[in-house]
Order: sequence, then structure tokens, then C-alpha cells
Amino acid sequence: MQEKSVAIDGPAGAGKSTLARALARELGYLYVDTGAIYRTVALRAWEAGADPSDPEQIAPLLKGLDLRMDYGADGVQRMYLSGRDVTEAIRVHQISGLASQVAALPPVRDFLLDFQRRQAMEHDVVMDGRDIGTVVLPRAGVKIFLTAAPEARAERRLLELRQRGQEAEFDAVLSDILRRDEQDRTRAVAPLRQAEDAVLLDTTELDRAGSLEALLAIVREGLSR
Ligand code: DC
Repeated sequence: MQEKSVAIDGPAGAGKSTLARALARELGYLYVDTGAIYRTVALRAWEAGADPSDPEQIAPLLKGLDLRMDYGADGVQRMYLSGRDVTEAIRVHQISGLASQVAALPPVRDFLLDFQRRQAMEHDVVMDGRDIGTVVLPRAGVKIFLTAAPEARAERRLLELRQRGQEAEFDAVLSDILRRDEQDRTRAVAPLRQAEDAVLLDTTELDRAGSLEALLAIVREGLSR
């Protein structure tokens, strides 16, 4: 039910997915990573050799799109494209930029809106993304806008990439994050912004445990109202 859901929005690298997953576990909710859904559409575009910024090329791909997600015994959200498990494939560096591009296209956002809302109708969810509190779940029980300084976000993203065995340079990761922020914030449809009724949580000075504690306090207070 939407009124019991938790919506978490914010820029790339703010720690949304790590925190949202931990929060969902704590609440016994389902965690829905909406970025992964956009990434799967981006992978489809990439494999089809389509221009990710051209709606005329992307819209036809949506018609035959066989996109599915499920949850393993470990609670990890897995994404499937035409039956193929693409959970790892959508995490590569190029897909981040492509996802931000396809996410700016109105036909892509329209197509994914129902898909995302359905999850919140069927389950109590912690859902993270860019427009969850503003567009997807406007009646969410608690809305959080999670952010951190760009340098802190780049540092965390770098660590995450390295843990996955991907090499990257700090400056490149930072400029990539800034470019994506700009793209996500300035698009015409459902841009990244804080909902009026969202609580702002800045984690620049907080470690993971401190961030989770702060997040839990906001959510418990919000859901008890
Ligand atoms: O959270 P992420 O980095 O996995 O998201 C990838 C891209 O998808 C991001 O740059 C913007 C887009 N996105 C979006 O526009 N709306 C969402 N609800 C989630 C992601």
C-alpha cells in the first residue's frame, strides 16, 4: 500500500541503494531499486545499437521489451531481459550514463511508471530512485531526499567499483557523477528534485552505520504518524 511505503530519492552515489536495502530488511519490506529498471532498458538500447537520446529509436524497443524482476533467497533484486539474468551486466560503467540518457525520454518514463507502481500495490516497499516521492509514489508514508557532497559520493562510488573489480580514477568518477546529476536534474520530465514533503538527509559527514541510524529515526517517526 502506497501510504505505508518509503520513497528515497537523491543523486547518484548518495548511498541510496545500500541504505534502502538495509532499511527494507529492518522493516520487513521489499526493496525496489528503480535505477536497475532504467539500467535494463539502457542495456536493451545498447545491445540494439540504438541512440539512447532518440525517442524515435527507443520507443519501438519498449513495445517488445520483456523485462522482469524477482528476488533471490538472499533478497537481492535480480533483473531479467528476455529471460536472461542481467543483474551484473547493468552495473558496468557505460550503462550508468546510458541509463541517465534513456531515463530522460518521456516514453521510457511512461512505460516504467506502471511497472513501478504495481510493485507498491502488491507489497510494502522501500523504493529508491529520482522521482519516487514526486511522481511514482506521491502518497508514500515517508519520503526522504538523500544526498551528500559530490566528492563524498565520488569516493564511495570509486570504492564500490573497485570492490566489483572495475578500475577507475577519482576525477573521472567525479565528473561522471556531476554530468549525471546535471542530466537527471535538468530533464523536462520527472527531474530529480526533493519533494516538498520529503525529509532531507545529508550523509557527507556520516558513515554507513550513522546514515542508517539517521534514516531509521526519520522513517520510524514518519510511519508512526
Ligand atoms: O540509481 P542509478 O544510478 O542506478 O540510476 C541510473 C539512472 O537511471 C540515473 O542516472 C537516472 C535514472 N533513474 C531515473 O531517472 N529515475 C529513477 N527513479 C531511477 C533512476
